[in-house]
Amino acid sequence: MSYQVLARKWRPQTFDAVVGQEPITRTLRNALAANRIAHAYLFAGPRGIGKTTTARLLAKALLCTARRDPEPCGACPACRELVLGTLVDVIEIDGASNRGIDDIRTLRENVRYAPARGRYKVYIIDEAHQLTKEAFNALLKTLEEPPAHVVFVLATTQPHEMPLTVLSRCQRFDFKPIPPELLSASLERILREEKVEFDPAALPLLVRSAEGSLRDALSLLDTALAYGGGRLAADSLAHLLGASAPAQVRAFVGALVVRDGAGALEAIDRAAQEGEDLAVLCRETVEALRRLLLLKVAPRLSPPDLTAAEIEEFRQRPPGSAKTSCSSS
Ligand SMILES: Nc1ncnc2c1ncn2[C@@H]1O[C@H](COP(=O)(O)OP(=O)(O)OP(=O)(O)O)[C@@H](O)[C@H]1O
Ligand SMILES: [Mg+2]
Ligand SMILES: [Zn+2]
Repeated sequence: MSYQVLARKWRPQTFDAVVGQEPITRTLRNALAANRIAHAYLFAGPRGIGKTTTARLLAKALLCTARRDPEPCGACPACRELVLGTLVDVIEIDGASNRGIDDIRTLRENVRYAPARGRYKVYIIDEAHQLTKEAFNALLKTLEEPPAHVVFVLATTQPHEMPLTVLSRCQRFDFKPIPPELLSASLERILREEKVEFDPAALPLLVRSAEGSLRDALSLLDTALAYGGGRLAADSLAHLLGASAPAQVRAFVGALVVRDGAGALEAIDRAAQEGEDLAVLCRETVEALRRLLLLKVAPRLSPPDLTAAEIEEFRQRPPGSAKTSCSSS
C-alpha cells in the first residue's frame, strides 16, 4: 500500500474533528440544522488551518443523503464519493490556474444546470484572490443572483486582495491560526494513533516551526519521521530544522542568565562548529528569555505560545537554576 501523507490521512471528516475553529464550525452547524444556508461564503485565513477542509465538510453535509443532524453521515454514496473526490456536484476550482474570464464564463454556464444528484451544487474556489479582475466581474453577476441550488465557498489566504464588491456578497469567516496548545494536542493524538514512538520534548519544536498551521506541523512531522527512521526525537528534529537541540538552547540561556560569559561563548562555538543555524539559535534564545521574563513577571499567566509541558518545565527548572554548564556533550 502506498504511503499517504499524514496531512491527507488526517483530514477531518466531521465538523467536530476540526481543531481550533469552534466559532466557525458551530455557526455552520447551526446554519445546517436550521437549513439557513448562505449562497456564498468566504473562508479567509493563513495557510493550512482548515479552510479547504471546512469547505469540503460543508459540501459533504449539504450533499449527504442520510444526514439527520448537522454532521455528514460519512457512509452514504455522496459522502464516500466526496472523500474520493469523484462527486460531480462538488466542483473544486483552483483560483490560481483558472483565473481568467473564460474559466468563470464556463462556470457561469455550469451553474445554471441542476445538480446531478442531490439538492445542491457546491463550488469551492481555492486561492480565490488570484482570480483576474475580469473573472471577478463575471463571478459577481453569478453571486448576485445565484440559482437556489448553488453554494459558493471562496477560500483565500489574502482576503485584502479580494474586491469589496465580492466580499460584500459573501458571508465571511476568518479562520484563526491554531493555538500551540491545540496543535500540540493534535500532534500527540495523531502520533499515538499512528503508534509512533516519540519524544515529548520534540513537540514544542514542531509546534513553533508550524506557526499555527496544522498542515505545516504534519508535513514537518512526515519529514521528521522519514529522517528519524520512524521515530520522533527532539535532537534529530532540531538537527533537521537546523536548530540547536532544546537542551543546548537551555544551556546557552542558562549561561546568559548566570552571566557565565565563557560558558555562553563556548555554547555559541559549539553550535557554530556543529553547523547549526545561528539565526535559529538566536531566535530560540530570544524566545526562551522572553518566556522566562513573562513567567517571572506574571507567574500565573500562561503565555499563549507555550505548551503546558513547557511552562511546567520552566517552572521546575528555570534556566540557570541548576548552574547548567555548557558542556559539549
Ligand atoms: N483546523 C484543523 N483541524 C484539523 N486538521 C487540520 C486543520 N487545519 C488543517 N488541518 C490539517 O491540514 C490539512 C490541510 O488543511 P486545509 O487544506 O484545510 O488547509 P487550508 O486552510 O485550506 O490551507 P491553504 O490555505 O494552504 O489551502 C488537512 O488535511 C488536515 O490534516
Ligand atoms: Mg486550502
Ligand atoms: Zn452521507
